[in-house]
Amino acid sequence: MQVADACKRFRTTPFLLLLAALLLASCGRQAIDYEQVSEEEKLIIRFSHVVGEDTPKGQAARRFAALMKERTGGRVEVQVFANGSLYSDYEELKALQEGYIQMIAPSLSKLSELVPEVEAFDLPFLYSSLDEYHRALDGEAGRRLAGMIERKGLVPLAYWDNAFKQLTSSLGPIRQPSDMKGMTVRIMPSEVLSKQFTMLGAKPVEMSFNDVYLALEKGQLDGQENTISNIYTKRFHLVQDHLTISNHGYLGYLVLMNRQFYDRLPQEIRQVLVETIREVTIWERQVADQINKEQLGYIKACDCINITELTSSDRVRWQQVFKPLYKSELTRWDPVFVKALGLSAIEENLHP
Ligand code: SIN
Repeated sequence: MQVADACKRFRTTPFLLLLAALLLASCGRQAIDYEQVSEEEKLIIRFSHVVGEDTPKGQAARRFAALMKERTGGRVEVQVFANGSLYSDYEELKALQEGYIQMIAPSLSKLSELVPEVEAFDLPFLYSSLDEYHRALDGEAGRRLAGMIERKGLVPLAYWDNAFKQLTSSLGPIRQPSDMKGMTVRIMPSEVLSKQFTMLGAKPVEMSFNDVYLALEKGQLDGQENTISNIYTKRFHLVQDHLTISNHGYLGYLVLMNRQFYDRLPQEIRQVLVETIREVTIWERQVADQINKEQLGYIKACDCINITELTSSDRVRWQQVFKPLYKSELTRWDPVFVKALGLSAIEENLHP
């Protein structure tokens, strides 16, 4: 049902109370009328994340907080803790499970201990456009992944984007896979990422996101992979000499809520929350792309890092190197899920 049709029907038909609450949230976005909210009635949602405010996730978390406040008349207060100020990426999942915080949005890679299938989205060159990632995440593959996470006792709310990842180095420009040989490279915790860099002859090192800047500055790392918005907002471009626009991998997030907290939410609040997350997700994916493009412009303008862009024939060489990775990894995961990733994309990667 289109929202506009639903709004019309709502005026003429006596709907169930439950549905009315949902429609009220869509028809003109009126706030739930809590005349006065005492401190005891207030619902606090602590939302912890590790990136900067001016990133897709940082901005979406703040927008979510503002909309929830407006739509619940202040009954729900979403407190956003950015930059790992409350918990690091290695601590936040446990803090969520134990109920110290109510929401997080970790990168998919950081859920790999819980559900190894998330690592499929770490496969290099899995899809060539963000639209294809969205189709997979919004379709059968994403639903299956969400089901696996749900069975681990968490509430998956949405998939958010950051962008494609790029490579940076202090050693020399990276154009060929062999340029990575001998490099010490920071990765997120993921077997696929670890194998990927090992195949290139590099030394992958798992490290918490907020420790990367210092490790790059001190020369403990030669390079790292990340999106432009994470590179720019954490100033990695100021402590690295070379940036390669490789678009070799995807960085996306799963927005999660603590199960007990979610189940105890009043029904009408839950409806507003689900609707708001859905709306913020659409917005987030649009701004994610804009933010990354804009910040690439800032990096280019600062003239502080040498930039290499992979050509399509360079990309083919990288894809060839990763062929064995696809063969070994795809057999590790639930075959129904692997099929849902889209056979044609996978076969292309297996037999380019
Ligand atoms: C994030 O975007 O949440 C952090 C990604 C990383 O650890 O590199």
